[in-house]
Amino acid sequence: MDKVQIFDTTLRDGEQSPGAALTIHEKVTIARALERLGVDIIEAGFPISSPGDLKAVQLISQEIRNCTICGLTRARKEDIDAAAEALKGAARPRIHTGLGVSESHLQYKLRMTREQALERAVWAVKYAKQFVEDVQYYAEDAGRADPLYLFQVLEAVIAAGATVVNIPDTTGYTSPQEWGALIKGIKENVRGIEKATISVHCHNDLGMATANSLAGVVNGARQIECTVNGIGERAGNTAMEETVMALRTRKDFYGVEATVDTTQIYALSRLVSELTSIPVQPNKAIVGANAFAHSSGIHQDGVLKERTTYEIINPRDIGVPDSEIILSARSGRHGLRHRLEQLGYLLTEEGQFEEIYKRFLDVADKKKTINDRDLEAIVADEMKLFKPTYTLEYLQVTCGDHAIPTATVQLRRDDGVVLCDADHGDGPVDAMYKAINRIVNVPNKLAEFSIDAISEGMDAVGKTAVRIQADWTGVEAKSLPTVFSGYGADTDIVVSAAKAYMHALNKLLWIRKEALGNGRNGNGAPTA
Ligand code: KIV
Ligand code: ZN
Repeated sequence: MDKVQIFDTTLRDGEQSPGAALTIHEKVTIARALERLGVDIIEAGFPISSPGDLKAVQLISQEIRNCTICGLTRARKEDIDAAAEALKGAARPRIHTGLGVSESHLQYKLRMTREQALERAVWAVKYAKQFVEDVQYYAEDAGRADPLYLFQVLEAVIAAGATVVNIPDTTGYTSPQEWGALIKGIKENVRGIEKATISVHCHNDLGMATANSLAGVVNGARQIECTVNGIGERAGNTAMEETVMALRTRKDFYGVEATVDTTQIYALSRLVSELTSIPVQPNKAIVGANAFAHSSGIHQDGVLKERTTYEIINPRDIGVPDSEIILSARSGRHGLRHRLEQLGYLLTEEGQFEEIYKRFLDVADKKKTINDRDLEAIVADEMKLFKPTYTLEYLQVTCGDHAIPTATVQLRRDDGVVLCDADHGDGPVDAMYKAINRIVNVPNKLAEFSIDAISEGMDAVGKTAVRIQADWTGVEAKSLPTVFSGYGADTDIVVSAAKAYMHALNKLLWIRKEALGNGRNGNGAPTA
Protein backbone atom coordinates (compact mmCIF):
# COMPACT_ATOMS: atom_id res chain seq x y z
CA MET A 1 0.00 0.00 0.00
CA ASP A 2 1.26 3.49 -0.86
CA LYS A 3 2.58 5.41 2.13
CA VAL A 4 1.75 8.96 3.21
CA GLN A 5 4.55 10.66 5.14
CA ILE A 6 3.56 12.38 8.36
CA PHE A 7 5.35 15.70 8.71
CA ASP A 8 4.77 17.01 12.21
CA THR A 9 5.08 20.75 12.72
CA THR A 10 3.86 20.98 16.34
CA LEU A 11 7.23 22.43 17.35
CA ARG A 12 7.19 25.09 14.62
CA ASP A 13 3.73 26.07 13.33
CA GLY A 14 2.09 24.64 16.47
CA GLU A 15 4.31 26.67 18.76
CA GLN A 16 3.19 29.80 16.90
CA SER A 17 -0.17 29.53 18.73
CA PRO A 18 -0.49 32.41 21.20
CA GLY A 19 0.57 31.27 24.66
CA ALA A 20 2.09 28.00 23.43
CA ALA A 21 5.70 29.09 23.90
CA LEU A 22 7.84 26.08 24.79
CA THR A 23 11.24 25.93 26.44
CA ILE A 24 14.07 24.05 24.72
CA HIS A 25 13.72 21.13 27.11
CA GLU A 26 9.97 20.92 26.52
CA LYS A 27 10.58 20.85 22.75
CA VAL A 28 13.05 17.99 23.11
CA THR A 29 10.54 16.11 25.28
CA ILE A 30 7.84 16.47 22.63
CA ALA A 31 10.30 15.46 19.89
CA ARG A 32 11.07 12.24 21.80
CA ALA A 33 7.35 11.48 22.02
CA LEU A 34 6.91 12.19 18.29
CA GLU A 35 9.74 9.78 17.52
CA ARG A 36 8.08 7.15 19.71
CA LEU A 37 4.85 7.61 17.78
CA GLY A 38 6.83 7.24 14.57
CA VAL A 39 6.21 10.41 12.57
CA ASP A 40 8.40 10.55 9.47
CA ILE A 41 9.52 14.17 9.73
CA ILE A 42 9.73 16.54 12.70
CA GLU A 43 9.81 20.23 11.84
CA ALA A 44 11.79 21.18 14.93
CA GLY A 45 11.75 24.97 14.59
CA PHE A 46 12.73 28.11 12.72
CA PRO A 47 16.41 28.40 13.67
CA ILE A 48 17.00 32.03 12.62
CA SER A 49 14.11 33.23 14.79
CA SER A 50 15.97 33.08 18.11
CA PRO A 51 19.02 31.49 19.74
CA GLY A 52 16.58 29.33 21.73
CA ASP A 53 14.97 27.96 18.57
CA LEU A 54 18.35 27.29 17.00
CA LYS A 55 19.49 25.43 20.10
CA ALA A 56 16.28 23.36 20.18
CA VAL A 57 16.73 22.29 16.54
CA GLN A 58 20.37 21.48 17.31
CA LEU A 59 19.54 19.29 20.32
CA ILE A 60 16.68 17.53 18.54
CA SER A 61 18.97 16.90 15.54
CA GLN A 62 21.57 15.35 17.81
CA GLU A 63 19.19 13.15 19.77
CA ILE A 64 16.45 11.95 17.42
CA ARG A 65 17.75 9.27 15.08
CA ASN A 66 14.62 7.76 13.56
CA CYS A 67 12.96 10.79 11.97
CA THR A 68 14.01 13.35 9.39
CA ILE A 69 14.62 16.65 11.22
CA CYS A 70 13.57 19.75 9.39
CA GLY A 71 14.31 23.45 9.97
CA LEU A 72 12.24 26.26 8.47
CA THR A 73 13.79 29.22 6.67
CA ARG A 74 12.75 32.16 4.56
CA ALA A 75 14.43 32.34 1.15
CA ARG A 76 17.34 34.23 2.65
CA LYS A 77 21.01 33.39 3.03
CA GLU A 78 21.17 34.07 6.80
CA ASP A 79 18.11 31.88 7.43
CA ILE A 80 19.48 28.97 5.38
CA ASP A 81 22.90 29.29 7.04
CA ALA A 82 21.25 29.15 10.50
CA ALA A 83 19.18 26.09 9.56
CA ALA A 84 22.21 24.31 8.08
CA GLU A 85 24.14 24.98 11.28
CA ALA A 86 21.29 23.78 13.52
CA LEU A 87 20.75 20.59 11.50
CA LYS A 88 24.41 19.56 11.40
CA GLY A 89 24.02 16.65 13.83
CA ALA A 90 20.85 15.23 12.26
CA ALA A 91 20.85 11.70 10.85
CA ARG A 92 18.46 12.90 8.13
CA PRO A 93 18.45 16.72 7.84
CA ARG A 94 15.96 18.66 5.72
CA ILE A 95 15.89 22.39 4.99
CA HIS A 96 12.42 23.84 4.41
CA THR A 97 12.66 27.07 2.47
CA GLY A 98 10.28 29.13 0.39
CA LEU A 99 8.35 32.33 -0.17
CA GLY A 100 4.94 33.59 -1.19
CA VAL A 101 3.24 32.93 -4.52
CA SER A 102 -0.10 34.77 -4.20
CA GLU A 103 -0.53 38.29 -5.58
CA SER A 104 -1.23 39.50 -2.06
CA HIS A 105 2.08 38.13 -0.74
CA LEU A 106 4.08 39.25 -3.77
CA GLN A 107 2.68 42.75 -3.76
CA TYR A 108 2.33 43.60 -0.06
CA LYS A 109 4.66 41.31 1.86
CA LEU A 110 7.55 40.64 -0.49
CA ARG A 111 7.23 43.68 -2.78
CA MET A 112 8.55 41.59 -5.66
CA THR A 113 7.44 40.89 -9.18
CA ARG A 114 6.59 37.32 -10.11
CA GLU A 115 9.89 37.04 -11.99
CA GLN A 116 11.94 38.30 -9.04
CA ALA A 117 10.22 35.89 -6.65
CA LEU A 118 10.77 32.98 -9.04
CA GLU A 119 14.44 33.82 -9.31
CA ARG A 120 14.75 34.02 -5.51
CA ALA A 121 12.98 30.68 -5.13
CA VAL A 122 15.43 28.93 -7.43
CA TRP A 123 18.38 30.60 -5.74
CA ALA A 124 17.15 29.51 -2.27
CA VAL A 125 16.78 25.86 -3.27
CA LYS A 126 20.20 25.79 -4.93
CA TYR A 127 21.78 27.48 -1.93
CA ALA A 128 20.14 25.07 0.55
CA LYS A 129 21.27 22.13 -1.61
CA GLN A 130 24.88 23.06 -0.83
CA PHE A 131 24.23 21.97 2.76
CA VAL A 132 21.71 19.12 2.55
CA GLU A 133 20.38 16.80 -0.11
CA ASP A 134 16.80 16.96 1.15
CA VAL A 135 15.32 20.39 0.41
CA GLN A 136 11.60 21.10 0.79
CA TYR A 137 10.15 24.15 -0.91
CA TYR A 138 7.00 25.92 0.37
CA ALA A 139 4.91 28.07 -1.95
CA GLU A 140 3.31 30.23 0.71
CA ASP A 141 -0.37 31.13 0.24
CA ALA A 142 -0.71 28.70 -2.68
CA GLY A 143 -4.42 28.45 -1.83
CA ARG A 144 -5.00 31.99 -3.12
CA ALA A 145 -2.42 32.02 -5.91
CA ASP A 146 -2.79 31.94 -9.68
CA PRO A 147 -2.35 28.20 -10.38
CA LEU A 148 -0.41 28.87 -13.59
CA TYR A 149 2.20 30.89 -11.71
CA LEU A 150 2.28 28.26 -8.95
CA PHE A 151 2.97 25.52 -11.54
CA GLN A 152 5.77 27.61 -13.00
CA VAL A 153 7.40 28.08 -9.59
CA LEU A 154 7.11 24.39 -8.72
CA GLU A 155 8.62 23.35 -12.03
CA ALA A 156 11.56 25.70 -11.47
CA VAL A 157 12.27 24.64 -7.87
CA ILE A 158 12.07 20.94 -8.75
CA ALA A 159 14.54 21.54 -11.59
CA ALA A 160 16.75 23.30 -9.01
CA GLY A 161 16.71 20.18 -6.81
CA ALA A 162 13.71 20.44 -4.42
CA THR A 163 12.87 16.94 -3.17
CA VAL A 164 9.50 17.92 -1.66
CA VAL A 165 7.12 20.67 -2.76
CA ASN A 166 4.92 21.93 0.02
CA ILE A 167 1.59 23.41 -1.07
CA PRO A 168 0.25 25.49 1.83
CA ASP A 169 -3.27 26.79 2.22
CA THR A 170 -1.73 29.42 4.47
CA THR A 171 -4.95 31.27 5.24
CA GLY A 172 -7.29 28.26 5.37
CA TYR A 173 -9.25 29.70 2.45
CA THR A 174 -9.99 26.77 0.20
CA SER A 175 -12.62 24.05 0.16
CA PRO A 176 -11.80 20.34 -0.21
CA GLN A 177 -13.03 20.17 -3.83
CA GLU A 178 -10.92 23.13 -4.89
CA TRP A 179 -7.91 21.94 -2.95
CA GLY A 180 -8.12 18.45 -4.40
CA ALA A 181 -8.39 19.94 -7.90
CA LEU A 182 -5.33 22.11 -7.29
CA ILE A 183 -3.22 19.10 -6.23
CA LYS A 184 -4.50 17.17 -9.26
CA GLY A 185 -3.58 20.15 -11.44
CA ILE A 186 -0.06 20.11 -10.00
CA LYS A 187 0.31 16.40 -10.72
CA GLU A 188 -0.92 16.82 -14.27
CA ASN A 189 0.74 20.08 -15.27
CA VAL A 190 4.07 20.49 -13.48
CA ARG A 191 6.94 19.06 -15.52
CA GLY A 192 9.23 16.91 -13.35
CA ILE A 193 6.67 16.51 -10.55
CA GLU A 194 7.43 12.76 -10.41
CA LYS A 195 10.86 13.67 -8.97
CA ALA A 196 9.34 15.37 -5.91
CA THR A 197 6.87 14.47 -3.16
CA ILE A 198 3.79 16.70 -2.99
CA SER A 199 3.08 17.88 0.54
CA VAL A 200 -0.10 19.55 1.81
CA HIS A 201 -0.02 22.11 4.62
CA CYS A 202 -3.52 23.28 5.52
CA HIS A 203 -4.82 25.77 8.05
CA ASN A 204 -8.15 25.53 9.77
CA ASP A 205 -9.66 29.02 9.45
CA LEU A 206 -12.85 27.61 7.89
CA GLY A 207 -12.62 24.29 9.71
CA MET A 208 -11.43 22.53 6.53
CA ALA A 209 -7.82 21.68 7.37
CA THR A 210 -8.22 17.92 7.80
CA ALA A 211 -10.72 17.59 4.94
CA ASN A 212 -8.43 19.59 2.63
CA SER A 213 -5.37 17.54 3.56
CA LEU A 214 -7.22 14.31 2.84
CA ALA A 215 -8.55 15.69 -0.45
CA GLY A 216 -4.91 16.42 -1.26
CA VAL A 217 -3.99 12.80 -0.58
CA VAL A 218 -6.82 11.52 -2.76
CA ASN A 219 -5.39 13.62 -5.59
CA GLY A 220 -1.76 12.62 -5.23
CA ALA A 221 -0.19 14.33 -2.20
CA ARG A 222 2.04 11.92 -0.28
CA GLN A 223 3.00 14.06 2.69
CA ILE A 224 0.66 15.66 5.21
CA GLU A 225 1.86 18.51 7.45
CA CYS A 226 0.07 18.51 10.76
CA THR A 227 0.25 19.24 14.47
CA VAL A 228 -0.78 17.38 17.59
CA ASN A 229 -4.29 18.51 18.67
CA GLY A 230 -4.37 20.73 15.56
CA ILE A 231 -2.67 23.63 17.35
CA GLY A 232 -1.09 26.38 15.26
CA GLU A 233 -1.43 29.90 13.89
CA ARG A 234 -4.94 31.38 14.37
CA ALA A 235 -7.45 28.49 14.09
CA GLY A 236 -4.61 26.00 13.87
CA ASN A 237 -3.27 23.40 11.45
CA THR A 238 -4.43 20.00 10.28
CA ALA A 239 -4.66 17.74 13.33
CA MET A 240 -2.24 14.81 13.22
CA GLU A 241 -4.57 12.48 15.11
CA GLU A 242 -7.49 13.20 12.75
CA THR A 243 -5.59 12.52 9.53
CA VAL A 244 -3.82 9.46 10.86
CA MET A 245 -7.04 7.93 12.19
CA ALA A 246 -9.00 8.85 9.06
CA LEU A 247 -6.41 7.12 6.87
CA ARG A 248 -6.46 4.09 9.14
CA THR A 249 -10.21 3.83 9.73
CA ARG A 250 -11.03 4.43 6.04
CA LYS A 251 -8.17 2.49 4.46
CA ASP A 252 -10.82 1.05 2.15
CA PHE A 253 -11.50 4.54 0.79
CA TYR A 254 -8.09 6.25 0.82
CA GLY A 255 -6.01 3.17 -0.08
CA VAL A 256 -2.86 4.63 1.50
CA GLU A 257 -1.32 4.29 4.93
CA ALA A 258 0.59 6.29 7.49
CA THR A 259 2.97 4.09 9.44
CA VAL A 260 2.67 5.47 12.95
CA ASP A 261 1.96 3.74 16.25
CA THR A 262 -1.55 5.04 16.88
CA THR A 263 -1.58 3.73 20.46
CA GLN A 264 0.73 6.63 21.37
CA ILE A 265 -1.76 9.28 20.19
CA TYR A 266 -3.66 9.81 23.43
CA ALA A 267 -0.56 10.23 25.61
CA LEU A 268 1.06 12.57 23.06
CA SER A 269 -2.09 14.68 22.92
CA ARG A 270 -2.04 15.04 26.72
CA LEU A 271 1.66 15.86 26.75
CA VAL A 272 1.31 18.60 24.13
CA SER A 273 -1.77 20.01 25.82
CA GLU A 274 0.02 20.17 29.15
CA LEU A 275 3.31 21.61 27.92
CA THR A 276 1.67 24.22 25.68
CA SER A 277 -1.13 24.89 28.21
CA ILE A 278 -3.64 24.65 25.36
CA PRO A 279 -6.60 22.55 26.51
CA VAL A 280 -8.22 20.05 24.17
CA GLN A 281 -11.86 20.92 23.54
CA PRO A 282 -14.13 18.15 24.92
CA ASN A 283 -15.75 17.43 21.54
CA LYS A 284 -12.43 17.35 19.66
CA ALA A 285 -12.33 14.44 17.22
CA ILE A 286 -10.22 11.47 18.39
CA VAL A 287 -8.65 13.00 21.53
CA GLY A 288 -11.45 15.07 23.12
CA ALA A 289 -12.81 13.93 26.50
CA ASN A 290 -16.18 13.17 24.88
CA ALA A 291 -14.80 11.47 21.75
CA PHE A 292 -15.81 8.07 23.11
CA ALA A 293 -18.54 9.08 25.56
CA HIS A 294 -22.10 7.97 24.82
CA SER A 295 -24.75 9.88 26.70
CA SER A 296 -28.07 9.02 25.05
CA GLY A 297 -29.73 5.90 26.38
CA ILE A 298 -30.24 4.48 22.90
CA HIS A 299 -26.56 4.87 22.09
CA GLN A 300 -25.46 3.42 25.42
CA ASP A 301 -27.69 0.45 24.88
CA GLY A 302 -26.28 -0.07 21.39
CA VAL A 303 -22.65 0.17 22.52
CA LEU A 304 -23.25 -2.23 25.40
CA LYS A 305 -24.68 -4.77 22.99
CA GLU A 306 -21.96 -4.27 20.41
CA ARG A 307 -19.33 -1.48 20.55
CA THR A 308 -19.28 -0.93 16.78
CA THR A 309 -22.94 0.13 16.67
CA TYR A 310 -21.88 3.67 17.57
CA GLU A 311 -18.07 3.57 17.66
CA ILE A 312 -15.96 3.53 14.52
CA ILE A 313 -12.68 3.62 16.43
CA ASN A 314 -11.69 1.40 19.31
CA PRO A 315 -10.42 3.77 22.03
CA ARG A 316 -7.63 1.27 22.71
CA ASP A 317 -6.26 1.91 19.22
CA ILE A 318 -5.29 5.42 20.23
CA GLY A 319 -4.11 4.40 23.69
CA VAL A 320 -7.05 5.52 25.84
CA PRO A 321 -6.59 3.71 29.17
CA ASP A 322 -9.10 0.93 29.68
CA SER A 323 -11.01 1.90 32.76
CA GLU A 324 -10.86 4.36 35.61
CA ILE A 325 -8.77 3.22 38.58
CA ILE A 326 -8.95 4.93 41.93
CA LEU A 327 -5.71 5.14 43.89
CA SER A 328 -5.06 5.93 47.52
CA ALA A 329 -1.98 6.48 49.69
CA ARG A 330 -1.85 2.71 50.13
CA SER A 331 -1.38 2.12 46.39
CA GLY A 332 2.33 2.73 46.91
CA ARG A 333 5.04 3.57 44.42
CA HIS A 334 4.36 0.52 42.29
CA GLY A 335 0.64 1.22 41.93
CA LEU A 336 1.26 4.85 41.09
CA ARG A 337 3.97 4.12 38.54
CA HIS A 338 1.82 1.44 36.89
CA ARG A 339 -1.15 3.76 36.50
CA LEU A 340 1.02 6.62 35.23
CA GLU A 341 2.43 4.31 32.58
CA GLN A 342 -1.08 3.23 31.60
CA LEU A 343 -1.98 6.90 31.22
CA GLY A 344 1.00 7.33 28.92
CA TYR A 345 3.42 9.18 31.18
CA LEU A 346 6.97 7.99 30.72
CA LEU A 347 8.87 9.79 33.44
CA THR A 348 12.37 9.83 32.11
CA GLU A 349 13.72 12.79 34.10
CA GLU A 350 15.81 11.86 37.10
CA GLY A 351 13.99 12.33 40.37
CA GLN A 352 10.72 13.22 38.61
CA PHE A 353 8.85 10.12 39.78
CA GLU A 354 9.88 10.68 43.41
CA GLU A 355 8.65 14.29 43.26
CA ILE A 356 5.34 13.12 41.80
CA TYR A 357 5.07 10.42 44.44
CA LYS A 358 5.61 13.01 47.20
CA ARG A 359 2.87 15.21 45.73
CA PHE A 360 0.63 12.18 45.31
CA LEU A 361 0.97 11.29 49.01
CA ASP A 362 0.34 14.89 49.93
CA VAL A 363 -2.89 15.04 47.92
CA ALA A 364 -3.94 11.54 49.02
CA ASP A 365 -3.58 12.71 52.58
CA LYS A 366 -6.07 15.51 52.00
CA LYS A 367 -8.36 13.74 49.53
CA LYS A 368 -8.17 10.04 50.45
CA THR A 369 -8.91 8.81 46.91
CA ILE A 370 -7.20 9.91 43.72
CA ASN A 371 -8.64 9.45 40.24
CA ASP A 372 -7.05 9.87 36.80
CA ARG A 373 -7.95 13.57 36.59
CA ASP A 374 -6.26 14.27 39.93
CA LEU A 375 -3.21 12.34 38.76
CA GLU A 376 -3.02 14.29 35.53
CA ALA A 377 -3.16 17.56 37.44
CA ILE A 378 -0.37 16.43 39.77
CA VAL A 379 1.81 15.24 36.90
CA ALA A 380 1.20 18.42 34.90
CA ASP A 381 2.26 20.45 37.90
CA GLU A 382 5.45 18.44 38.36
CA MET A 383 6.35 18.24 34.69
CA LYS A 384 7.39 21.84 34.35
CA LEU A 385 10.50 21.12 32.40
CA PHE A 386 12.68 24.05 33.30
CA LYS A 387 14.29 25.44 36.36
CA PRO A 388 12.16 28.15 37.94
CA THR A 389 13.88 31.45 38.68
CA TYR A 390 11.52 31.97 41.64
CA THR A 391 9.80 29.40 43.84
CA LEU A 392 6.90 30.09 46.12
CA GLU A 393 7.89 29.48 49.73
CA TYR A 394 5.10 31.08 51.66
CA LEU A 395 1.72 32.57 50.96
CA GLN A 396 -0.77 34.13 53.31
CA VAL A 397 -3.99 35.72 52.16
CA THR A 398 -6.62 37.56 54.18
CA CYS A 399 -10.02 38.23 52.64
CA GLY A 400 -13.71 38.29 53.43
CA ASP A 401 -16.74 40.52 53.03
CA HIS A 402 -15.44 42.96 55.67
CA ALA A 403 -11.73 42.81 54.95
CA ILE A 404 -9.41 44.42 52.45
CA PRO A 405 -7.98 41.48 50.52
CA THR A 406 -4.30 41.40 51.41
CA ALA A 407 -1.55 38.95 50.46
CA THR A 408 1.94 38.33 51.80
CA VAL A 409 4.26 36.21 49.68
CA GLN A 410 7.75 34.91 50.12
CA LEU A 411 9.71 33.73 47.08
CA ARG A 412 13.13 32.11 46.85
CA ARG A 413 15.23 33.17 43.89
CA ASP A 414 17.44 30.57 42.16
CA ASP A 415 20.57 32.17 43.67
CA GLY A 416 19.18 31.44 47.13
CA VAL A 417 18.02 34.96 47.99
CA VAL A 418 14.68 35.00 49.82
CA LEU A 419 12.35 37.89 49.05
CA CYS A 420 9.17 38.84 50.83
CA ASP A 421 6.51 41.43 49.98
CA ALA A 422 2.82 42.23 50.47
CA ASP A 423 0.05 44.10 48.70
CA HIS A 424 -3.71 44.48 48.70
CA GLY A 425 -6.14 44.22 45.80
CA ASP A 426 -9.70 43.74 44.57
CA GLY A 427 -9.75 40.15 45.73
CA PRO A 428 -7.36 37.52 47.14
CA VAL A 429 -5.94 36.56 43.74
CA ASP A 430 -5.45 40.18 42.68
CA ALA A 431 -3.70 40.97 45.99
CA MET A 432 -1.46 37.92 45.68
CA TYR A 433 -0.53 38.61 42.03
CA LYS A 434 0.32 42.20 42.92
CA ALA A 435 2.53 41.05 45.79
CA ILE A 436 4.32 38.57 43.48
CA ASN A 437 4.77 41.32 40.86
CA ARG A 438 6.42 43.57 43.43
CA ILE A 439 9.15 40.93 43.76
CA VAL A 440 9.47 39.51 40.24
CA ASN A 441 9.11 42.91 38.60
CA VAL A 442 8.37 41.85 35.02
CA PRO A 443 5.81 44.15 33.35
CA ASN A 444 2.87 42.00 32.28
CA LYS A 445 -0.90 41.94 32.08
CA LEU A 446 -3.07 39.03 33.20
CA ALA A 447 -4.88 38.17 29.96
CA GLU A 448 -6.82 35.06 31.05
CA PHE A 449 -7.56 33.32 34.30
CA SER A 450 -9.66 30.22 34.83
CA ILE A 451 -10.01 27.71 37.59
CA ASP A 452 -11.59 24.27 37.33
CA ALA A 453 -12.38 21.54 39.78
CA ILE A 454 -10.53 18.52 38.45
CA SER A 455 -12.74 16.03 40.22
CA GLU A 456 -16.03 16.06 42.08
CA GLY A 457 -16.55 16.89 45.74
CA MET A 458 -15.62 19.65 48.17
CA ASP A 459 -12.06 18.33 48.41
CA ALA A 460 -11.41 18.41 44.64
CA VAL A 461 -8.06 19.48 43.26
CA GLY A 462 -8.42 22.92 41.67
CA LYS A 463 -6.51 23.44 38.42
CA THR A 464 -5.79 27.05 37.50
CA ALA A 465 -4.78 28.17 34.02
CA VAL A 466 -3.47 31.66 33.35
CA ARG A 467 -2.17 33.57 30.35
CA ILE A 468 -0.04 36.63 30.80
CA GLN A 469 0.85 39.20 28.17
CA ALA A 470 4.43 40.40 28.49
CA ASP A 471 5.26 44.03 27.91
CA TRP A 472 8.58 43.99 26.03
CA THR A 473 8.80 47.77 25.69
CA GLY A 474 12.47 48.70 25.62
CA VAL A 475 13.61 45.09 25.22
CA GLU A 476 15.62 44.21 22.12
CA ALA A 477 13.59 41.05 21.50
CA LYS A 478 11.71 41.04 18.23
CA SER A 479 11.47 37.27 18.23
CA LEU A 480 10.25 36.79 21.78
CA PRO A 481 6.74 35.46 22.25
CA THR A 482 4.42 37.85 24.05
CA VAL A 483 1.87 35.48 25.58
CA PHE A 484 2.88 32.92 28.19
CA SER A 485 0.68 30.31 29.82
CA GLY A 486 0.92 28.68 33.18
CA TYR A 487 -1.02 26.21 35.23
CA GLY A 488 -1.07 25.09 38.81
CA ALA A 489 -2.95 22.51 40.82
CA ASP A 490 -3.73 22.30 44.50
CA THR A 491 -6.58 21.45 46.81
CA ASP A 492 -6.37 25.10 47.97
CA ILE A 493 -7.52 27.23 45.05
CA VAL A 494 -5.57 30.32 46.09
CA VAL A 495 -2.36 28.27 46.20
CA SER A 496 -3.34 26.75 42.85
CA ALA A 497 -3.72 30.29 41.41
CA ALA A 498 -0.34 31.30 42.83
CA LYS A 499 1.36 28.26 41.30
CA ALA A 500 -0.17 28.98 37.89
CA TYR A 501 1.02 32.59 37.93
CA MET A 502 4.50 31.61 39.09
CA HIS A 503 4.64 29.01 36.31
CA ALA A 504 3.79 31.59 33.64
CA LEU A 505 6.27 34.13 35.05
CA ASN A 506 9.05 31.56 35.35
CA LYS A 507 8.41 30.36 31.82
CA LEU A 508 8.60 33.93 30.56
CA LEU A 509 11.90 34.46 32.38
CA TRP A 510 13.30 31.17 31.15
CA ILE A 511 12.38 31.72 27.49
CA ARG A 512 13.72 35.27 27.67
CA LYS A 513 16.97 33.86 29.02
CA GLU A 514 17.12 31.24 26.24
CA ALA A 515 16.59 33.96 23.66
CA LEU A 516 18.73 36.75 25.06
CA GLY A 517 21.21 35.25 27.48
CA ASN A 518 21.17 35.46 31.21
CA GLY A 519 21.02 39.11 32.25
CA ARG A 520 21.14 39.95 35.96
CA ASN A 521 21.24 43.34 37.57
CA GLY A 522 23.49 44.28 40.51
CA ASN A 523 21.00 42.74 42.96
CA GLY A 524 20.98 39.40 41.14
CA ALA A 525 17.47 39.91 39.74
CA PRO A 526 16.95 38.82 36.12
CA THR A 527 16.91 41.68 33.62
CA ALA A 528 16.05 41.88 29.94
O1 KIV B 1 1.16 28.29 6.54
C1 KIV B 1 2.21 28.38 5.88
O2 KIV B 1 2.21 28.80 4.72
C2 KIV B 1 3.44 27.99 6.52
C3 KIV B 1 4.66 27.93 5.67
C4 KIV B 1 5.80 28.64 6.32
C5 KIV B 1 4.99 26.51 5.35
O3 KIV B 1 3.46 27.68 7.69
ZN1 ZN C 1 1.42 27.18 8.38
